[in-house]
Amino acid sequence: MKLFDVYPLYDIEIARACGSRVYDKNGVEYLDMYGGHAVISIGHTNEHYVKRLNEQLAKIGFYSNSVIIPQQKELADLLGKLTGKDDYQLFLCNSGAEANENAMKLASFATGRKKIVAFRGSFHGRTSLAVAATDNAAIVAPANETSNVIFLPFNNIEALKALFAECGTEVAAVITEAIQGVGGIRIANNEFLKTIRTLCDVYGAKFIADGVQDGCGRTGNYFAHDSAGIKADIYTMAKGIGNGFPLAGLLISPDLKPKYGMLGTTFGGNHLACTAGIAVAEEMLAKDMVKNAAQMGEYLIGELSKLQNIKEVRGKGLMIGIELNEDYKWLRDKLLYTHKIFVGTAGKTIIRLLPALNITKEDCDRTIAAFKAEL
Ligand SMILES: Cc1ncc(COP(=O)(O)O)c(C=O)c1O
Repeated sequence: MKLFDVYPLYDIEIARACGSRVYDKNGVEYLDMYGGHAVISIGHTNEHYVKRLNEQLAKIGFYSNSVIIPQQKELADLLGKLTGKDDYQLFLCNSGAEANENAMKLASFATGRKKIVAFRGSFHGRTSLAVAATDNAAIVAPANETSNVIFLPFNNIEALKALFAECGTEVAAVITEAIQGVGGIRIANNEFLKTIRTLCDVYGAKFIADGVQDGCGRTGNYFAHDSAGIKADIYTMAKGIGNGFPLAGLLISPDLKPKYGMLGTTFGGNHLACTAGIAVAEEMLAKDMVKNAAQMGEYLIGELSKLQNIKEVRGKGLMIGIELNEDYKWLRDKLLYTHKIFVGTAGKTIIRLLPALNITKEDCDRTIAAFKAEL
């Protein structure tokens, strides 16, 4: 059977990995500054993680949400500690899109309203409402099109105020990343995030913080939205929280009350997925990885900003965009094939760095040297 060919692939077969190193089937070593798209948080094949998952799998991997799964509560307690939001409630699911889909549904259920406000440059996933709130017409199927999503310019406070003045009582939720990832590492300014909070409070709408890519400690705070000093009603999480095991979740404010059957999933929150999340949280706490992300990020951004022949370096912590004056392709290929470094990209001109949170200074130096050699 042929694979449904939707991904442009590098001609590289990764056979094993350790920390921030991946090895192809011929044993060639690569430095992973991409983290498999911001997913690898505590490093590939992390010893504690592998041990925890092996032990759990030997006991039980899955049972449905019809029984008590104590690992769910254990994970909730750890996430409460990591995020400082232990008064919030946790709902577990499987992917970032599913988390955002559920967050928007929940806001709509809670308010009885239909309108979702999203922003230009956003990416929230590929399921029906998540993709409708994503600013990319090419991935919105005709059946996903809806007039319930209103797009506003990112970081534009006046447009936000005008929209709320016009139809604020119809808005169920405002959804935004604090740093647009797919959109090219664009940072929401604090005033913008604070204005969303205020307007949601005044008009009774819910603020959804999409922390799928910029969450999990990547930017030096557990959620990138935290740096604005505000609290969202719902935070969504995925990618880094499972370090590669499909795991996603919503942190839901205490004001939002659950009802049986309101949300649900077959796989979400199973024993093995929760164990992956527990192992990640334990390692992050034990090794103070959020602090490392902040420090290494500051170092990388500082050094990369000195580069010649680039337009701009943007980002926070280990979510970094290097915008070139030209198409990124030649540089990405040089980094990968000559320097053996995996990086991500965005748009046509941006290289994205999304390495594991425990990346070392040596690995940052290797990356900086490779950029210097080419630019
Ligand atoms: C900010 C953001 N939200 C949602 C998603 C969708 O996550 P998933 O691919 O796990 O559905 C992504 C994926 O890149 C993302 O970056």
